[in-house]
Amino acid sequence: MGNTKPFTQESPTRFITFANRKGGCGKTTTVINIAHAMALAGHRVLIVDMDPQAHASLSLGFSPETDRMNVAHVLAKEITMDKAVLNTHLGNIDLIPASRDLTQYEIHHSVKEGQETNLTDTITTARERYDVVIIDPPPTVSLLMISSLVAATEVYIPLQMNFLAMEGLAEMMRLIYLVNATWNPDLRLQGIVPTFFNKNTRLSKGICREIIHNFGKEKMAPAVRTNIKLAEAPGYKQTIFEFDPKSIGADDYRKLARFILNSHESFENHG
Ligand SMILES: Nc1ncnc2c1ncn2[C@@H]1O[C@H](COP(=O)(O)OP(=O)(O)OP(=O)(O)O)[C@@H](O)[C@H]1O
Ligand SMILES: [Mg+2]
Repeated sequence: MGNTKPFTQESPTRFITFANRKGGCGKTTTVINIAHAMALAGHRVLIVDMDPQAHASLSLGFSPETDRMNVAHVLAKEITMDKAVLNTHLGNIDLIPASRDLTQYEIHHSVKEGQETNLTDTITTARERYDVVIIDPPPTVSLLMISSLVAATEVYIPLQMNFLAMEGLAEMMRLIYLVNATWNPDLRLQGIVPTFFNKNTRLSKGICREIIHNFGKEKMAPAVRTNIKLAEAPGYKQTIFEFDPKSIGADDYRKLARFILNSHESFENHG
């Protein structure tokens, strides 16, 4: 992370969501490892786990207990954000954990109007304490995913290199337009992240060409290659930078973090 520009005192907190309605495309892996890469570069990071599966919380060593204060209580506005924040073993990274309560929250609140901005309202105090807030939504188009997009200013789409990828991407674009038009005009698609990338396959290369054709080169984030170390690390409650910092998975996430951090300037210029 050597040549990363530090955030300045005046830099606004960035609210980033890694979203895709496709399951298993590498969202949580990206959230955890980008968070750690940014923390290693000196940024204060808050991860918000919005997925009832609680994979981000589990990857950081927290089991999704329903009695612990968690993001469901924050969304329901029963507690303030700081009551649910956990310090992780990784310096500079805090977590608002998920729990299975999120499923109940979703069932009860999806039918009520105006719930989409609850996350936005409640995590706004994060501006005082963090440089970056990274949100991990579930893979379904639901109140929880929409809330995760409404609360963000930047969305990155991790895109698994398979033949249905482009179809899912079109649906995500429609969702982003809907969020832009209805709740959050500030949300911007900042990049598409090819995941499970294999440079030797025509499929990976073909999908990347299509992304560049449709979205332009600047939206094409560095790819994350398939790397077994990335799949093994969460089993040890470690990020790739703890588990195997010399792996190609660590290299790829370092590059991706640099891309995201360096997009900050252009982001501010647009803002
Ligand atoms: N680049 C990679 N190489 C190898 N395995 C990976 C890679 N990225 C993710 N994985 C593994 O693939 C599985 C799915 O990844 P992950 O949980 O990050 O996806 P997700 O999009 O968050 O899934 P969900 O939609 O269920 O939330 C996990 O077992 C993860 O460890
Ligand atoms: Mg996930």
